[in-house]
Amino acid sequence: MADDRPAALASSTRTPVGIVGGGPAGLVLSHLLHRAGVPSVVVDSRSREEISTTVRAGILEHGTVQLLLDSGVYSDGASRRVLEEGYEHEGVELAFGGRRHRVDFHDLVAASVWLYPQTEVFADLAHARERDGGDVRFGVQDARVVDLEGDQPRILYRDAEGLEHEVLPDFLVGADGSRSACRRAVPEGQGQNTGREYPFAWFGFLTDAPASAPELVYSHSPHGFALVSQRTDTVQRMYFQCDPDEDVTAWSEDRIWEEMRRRTAVNGLELKTGPVRDAAVLRFRSFVHAPLRHGRMLLAGDAAHTVPPTGAKGLNLAVADVRVLAPALADAVLRDDTTGLDTYSERALERVWKAQHFSYWMTTMLHTLPGSAPFDVRRQEAELATLAASRAGQTLLAEGYTGWPGSQV
Ligand code: PHB
Repeated sequence: MADDRPAALASSTRTPVGIVGGGPAGLVLSHLLHRAGVPSVVVDSRSREEISTTVRAGILEHGTVQLLLDSGVYSDGASRRVLEEGYEHEGVELAFGGRRHRVDFHDLVAASVWLYPQTEVFADLAHARERDGGDVRFGVQDARVVDLEGDQPRILYRDAEGLEHEVLPDFLVGADGSRSACRRAVPEGQGQNTGREYPFAWFGFLTDAPASAPELVYSHSPHGFALVSQRTDTVQRMYFQCDPDEDVTAWSEDRIWEEMRRRTAVNGLELKTGPVRDAAVLRFRSFVHAPLRHGRMLLAGDAAHTVPPTGAKGLNLAVADVRVLAPALADAVLRDDTTGLDTYSERALERVWKAQHFSYWMTTMLHTLPGSAPFDVRRQEAELATLAASRAGQTLLAEGYTGWPGSQV
């Protein structure tokens, strides 16, 4: 038989929307589509357990929180966990040149952000999809997308027994993270990749200790950047700038705390220390793939763009993509109207590029380059001092950090 399909398929599922990736981007999309009356199938090669235990960033823009609340993620009368277990932060601190300066979001832009880890957002979404009878297939093996050029894209995967399954979507969404198989399946010459690498990374860890500060502290120092973040009253999240090839095992608890202190004490911060766990090096990258549409395939979230973590834009940007994509898909599926899909890429990329700039700005303003001259450090301190002395400057930062107002994209 001259047929490249496997001899036997254990299942074949037709669906209006097939989503590769069951992280927050894929699940928010599936949830919003469900609310609009559009069924979808989600596949992810990771297990639910694996996604819910991978430590990720923890800051939600107010628009992200609003979307979770307004779209009925918590509609079963269960607690609105993001409000009850999350922490509202009405500002952040910038620490530099021996002092600390608070940027008051509430005062500047009448908005706040929420400290609520991405793993909890995922847990809430996975629960909501399960509650609403969503078809979410975690832990599949060898997921592939094929036949992107024609009218019938296909998702293929194997189950734990090695049996082959197929999903036949009218529209395919790649929400499968920064190593996206969907993005890689875009035919040569049809998409453009642009980005940059950074000569530093973050050493991130959790610690069982009380909070050292009520809000996040972004600390610039001649010894490098450090970020003091939180999780709960008894668990804190911290980061310090390190080499991208840093070996985590070379860092004892004592050495980690000594380094954190060196970078925060110069700015008058007293750290509360405790046992360290979940240490890992996070590499930095800025990356955009465009356009976000290739025929019947749409890309969303990290599959299409990556930002460095300074400013915690990654998850928020994925949600912003999906907020534009969901109604466009609903129009295409329910009303045969593809005008929303035709403009999806352009509309979503507008915010993506704002966030690229914001993340780059925060990153370059706060990190010291390896081997930087005293001039460079003093200039950065002057940039931060200029910001701290200017309501206009701080408003710009507050708008970006809390999520640009007045825009649905
Ligand atoms: C975090 O708490 O994990 C976090 C907070 C702010 C960032 C990045 C990460 O900019």
